[in-house]
Amino acid sequence: VTAPDLAGRHVVISAGGTREPLDPVRYLGNRSSGKQGYALARTAVARGARVTLIEANTQLPDPAGVDVIHVDTAVRLREAVLKAAAEADAVVMAAAVADFRPAEYASGKIKKKDGQEPAPLALVRNPDILAELSADRPRAGQVIVGFAAETDDVLANGRRKLRHKGCDLLVVNEVGEDKTFGSEENEAVVLAADGEETPVPYGPKEALADTVWSLVLPRLL
Ligand code: C5P
Repeated sequence: VTAPDLAGRHVVISAGGTREPLDPVRYLGNRSSGKQGYALARTAVARGARVTLIEANTQLPDPAGVDVIHVDTAVRLREAVLKAAAEADAVVMAAAVADFRPAEYASGKIKKKDGQEPAPLALVRNPDILAELSADRPRAGQVIVGFAAETDDVLANGRRKLRHKGCDLLVVNEVGEDKTFGSEENEAVVLAADGEETPVPYGPKEALADTVWSLVLPRLL
């Protein structure tokens, strides 16, 4: 797609994966590369949109023509997304947000002690940014898109998650040992709240990104 069909639109994309610190040198993280989010950013620019990309812990260079905000934790990602979303026509949450974070942060490096078992790791829930955005709609009529990586019962879990989160579109894909994470390709089904289901065959993350924008477009006010 090369038509500037997103001209005059502002889209916000989150990409990468949050890291939740345990101490100054350790964190709980995930394997999201950020490539799908960056593909969404590049394709949105190519289609004429103004793009804000909120990036967590990717190893990727800032894409040209994109306003990039760098964050680390889920709490910081939430702050940045909510701020940017206030002026956005669409928000796509492609980032892998940690569901939990350590209940306590140790200001000094946690040490092992001879002959002692490790202390159990206490976790607390992180805010669900996608659910919050979908409920609050920082700007009236905006389109909210989520991603869901599932390992089993992909479609059934995806349909349930779409309802639970309250977003307009949910991109569901199957993940596993060597599927999707870090790869250049993706295969998915895009589920819409209005019941439309769009399978996207295995292919470049750009192709899936373009399909997402083509499904966002008719839903914009
Ligand atoms: O519930 P689950 O983590 O599978 O949902 C994935 C979707 O929800 C992604 O779009 C992700 O960006 C978003 N999410 C979020 N805040 C969380 C967890 C997930 O916005 N705390």
